[in-house]
Amino acid sequence: MNAPPTAERQAAGSQAPHPTLPGYYDVAEERAGFVRRLFDDTARHYDRINAVFSLGTGGRYRRQTLQRAGLRSGMRVLDVACGTGLVTREAARIVGAEGHVMGLDPSAGMLAEARRQLRLPFLQGRAETLPLADASLDFITMGYALRHVADLAGPFAEYRRVLRPGGTVLLLEIGRPDGPVAHALAKTYLGKVVPALCRVAAPAARSGMLMQYYWDTIEACVPAETILHHLRMAGFAQVECETTLGIFRSYIARR
Ligand SMILES: C[S@@+](CC[C@H](N)C(=O)[O-])C[C@H]1O[C@@H](n2cnc3c(N)ncnc32)[C@H](O)[C@@H]1O
Repeated sequence: MNAPPTAERQAAGSQAPHPTLPGYYDVAEERAGFVRRLFDDTARHYDRINAVFSLGTGGRYRRQTLQRAGLRSGMRVLDVACGTGLVTREAARIVGAEGHVMGLDPSAGMLAEARRQLRLPFLQGRAETLPLADASLDFITMGYALRHVADLAGPFAEYRRVLRPGGTVLLLEIGRPDGPVAHALAKTYLGKVVPALCRVAAPAARSGMLMQYYWDTIEACVPAETILHHLRMAGFAQVECETTLGIFRSYIARR
């Protein structure tokens, strides 16, 4: 389904995570197709790219953040924007055989990689329309993908719908550092060094572009307060954001 035109979305109180980024796509309606093709084209290289730039956001960071947010053995989990399954696999380890973990992503290329690596259910779909029953989950994760949705309100309403009362949503993100020195360092590393390294480490035509887009969306992204506000507007409670090393953010909210 196509996204409603920009004016209609604004009237409905929706909030794009960042403005349109000319040079990548021209109008908001082209964003989803651009993002899907970008991840399809680079899926084979994603894990290698992630290893290059992860800066500690690897498996251990993902696992510890899931545990801190309250993920426990036996829970039912959906990993939205699962990509190749980097968060999914850590969630599956924590919930164990008693639990149930599914991944969901719009990119067929990313899903093919996830299915190659993990024997877990993976669904093709988008955060905006989850193919799941009301109150059917204990926990929702979304790793490094909030910047790719069309607006914050739609996915947050869906997360609230499919979580049981008391359920948890955990959003992992990279945020624009506040101070000028930290910002300059991040801009140099993530905006220049990483794209250049990726062109060498994963020479698919678009690996460098993927990481350039990654930084450009971080720079243009709405502040943490806006994300927290929209979680509250969607009906979540105990909404908080924890920042590590000035850049790694985890947003936690309870249904
Ligand atoms: C940077 S990758 C993150 C993958 C994984 N979660 C991780 O921790 O590495 C972003 C993922 O978001 C997915 N994505 C983009 N738009 C989405 C949407 N509207 N709903 C759900 N996933 C989306 C992309 O296909 C891609 O796999």
